[in-house]
Amino acid sequence: MKIPSTTLNNGVEMPLLGLGVHAPKNISEVQQAVEWALEAGCRLIDTATAYNNEREVADAIRESGIPRSDIFITTKVWNDDQGYTRTLRAFNRSLERLRLDVIDLYLIHWPIKEHRHETWRALEKIYADGRARAIGVSNHYPAHIDELLTEARIIPAINQVEFSPYSYLPEVITYCRDKNIQPEGYAPMVRGKKRDDPKLIALAEKYGKSTYQMLVRWSIQHGVVTIPKSVKRERIQENFNVLDFSISDEDMTLMDTFYDNTRVADDPRTIA
Ligand SMILES: NC(=O)c1ccc[n+]([C@@H]2O[C@H](COP(=O)([O-])OP(=O)(O)OC[C@H]3O[C@@H](n4cnc5c(N)ncnc54)[C@H](OP(=O)(O)O)[C@@H]3O)[C@@H](O)[C@H]2O)c1
Repeated sequence: MKIPSTTLNNGVEMPLLGLGVHAPKNISEVQQAVEWALEAGCRLIDTATAYNNEREVADAIRESGIPRSDIFITTKVWNDDQGYTRTLRAFNRSLERLRLDVIDLYLIHWPIKEHRHETWRALEKIYADGRARAIGVSNHYPAHIDELLTEARIIPAINQVEFSPYSYLPEVITYCRDKNIQPEGYAPMVRGKKRDDPKLIALAEKYGKSTYQMLVRWSIQHGVVTIPKSVKRERIQENFNVLDFSISDEDMTLMDTFYDNTRVADDPRTIA
């Protein structure tokens, strides 16, 4: 199974579907989950300093024997580490834990007003030094990016935001596309909160797929990079088994109307 990819604004290729590794009950589950995902064809892993599992991700990648260049690894600078010098130090520690010389994508995890420009300046330095193949942001809505761009020399390659039909804000995605920023979505399956939604169940039955698969597929069809998380082998396989069908335009439009502002994380609109 070849997972489709997207080309970022600096020419780097990124898979459209990957594995998220946020908050498993036991850190020990992460290595196994990443190994299963790689077996299932996954080549994008989304971690973060805040997830405290960069070492386990590194162990899985080493065990897999898959060439490093075939795997796209994202990590993120946490809020407490923001600011120019602190971010540079945090980045070094992440690389050490991941046992890498170069990360594929380094993101600012959340927009922290007082550090916004300095943190981005650190990411620009990391990029200029060739230690990240791409740099970007997360949880940034248009107002945050507008402000960032007043001083930025490099336009973020990615903006990772919560993205499911239930939190879908088309204006955020359109804004990113207009700026040539690739949107990436997290919590595509709303952490299971919508598995009993009759509207979603009806569509899943129509396509002979699970509600989880419908949500992952919806993200991919929007051209948004998506990173469903599971630590269970069958679920990982299920979440990656979404390339053999497509949702009709009509049903995509229908799913676009499911918005009810259900979120798993804070709404960036509440952050200055
Ligand atoms: N940038 C940010 O601020 C931010 C915030 C949140 C998340 N993220 C990233 O996005 C990734 C995904 O988001 P998320 O983990 O919050 O939520 P999610 O991927 O929407 O949902 C994960 C939850 O759904 C369960 N699950 C997964 N597949 C399933 C299936 N096929 N059937 C039944 N249950 C299933 C998982 O349990 P099991 O593991 O037990 O299967 C887990 O509890 C994260 O891991 C992280 O990498 C980023």
